[in-house]
Amino acid sequence: MKELNNTTPHNAEEYDVNVRKTIPYYETIHQEAIDLIKTVKPDARVWLDTGCGTGYMVEQAYPHFPHTHFIICDPAPKMLEEAKRRLANIPSDRLSILEPVGTQELENKIKNKVDVITAIQAHLYLLRDERKKATENCFNLLNKSGIYVTTENIHPLSARGVEIGLARWTNFQLQAGRSKYEVEEHTRRFNKKYFPITVEEHLQLLRNVGFKTVEFFWYAHMQAGFYAITGNEAQP
Ligand SMILES: C[S@@+](CC[C@H](N)C(=O)[O-])C[C@H]1O[C@@H](n2cnc3c(N)ncnc32)[C@H](O)[C@@H]1O
Repeated sequence: MKELNNTTPHNAEEYDVNVRKTIPYYETIHQEAIDLIKTVKPDARVWLDTGCGTGYMVEQAYPHFPHTHFIICDPAPKMLEEAKRRLANIPSDRLSILEPVGTQELENKIKNKVDVITAIQAHLYLLRDERKKATENCFNLLNKSGIYVTTENIHPLSARGVEIGLARWTNFQLQAGRSKYEVEEHTRRFNKKYFPITVEEHLQLLRNVGFKTVEFFWYAHMQAGFYAITGNEAQP
């Protein structure tokens, strides 16, 4: 298999075309996350998009948040190069780009707390302890009523659920035009190149690191989305 320049199955230069053939509802996932943040934090001062990839989230969010400063980061230099290109028209007082870094290493990299953190399909490559560290960093970086929004590939609740989920995902990718070989390679990544956890484990992790309001807002195929707010609201 070819050598890749980031943790996804696609080279950064080909990512935008291929991701849409790989993740069902890719664009809808971003639109749903933006809609959620528009509702909860329309006046966000600072928004960190970690695991920004090629910068699609900020490109989409930017017009809706005219008073927000965006910070982007990603551990893959090639992804950041693509993001810089895509976001070249955003003035520097509205966008900061960090040196390559993963969320689990983010402490001390950002001076002031932020209002929003998004991590879209970014933390699934982390092993359990690293994922916990990444989630703690997000909690600690957020202001008192800050919101964390994350989506990931999910581990279904049963072995049969995994079979069914992967079979549907295979069909989706074949219909989207990926080759049989590419799809088989992708299916082999489950639990080997990325490490999905269940919806229940996600909710528990978010509560364990200290978030007071913990919800999930999206589930289709094998992707789910969660949001968590730092302070003040008790669980029902
Ligand atoms: C599937 S892409 C998603 C990119 C972008 N968020 C999007 O929605 O298109 C996964 C991204 O997560 C990044 N990534 C991998 N490990 C990470 C980590 N530990 N922390 C943050 N981002 C990570 C990869 O480099 C890649 O750019």
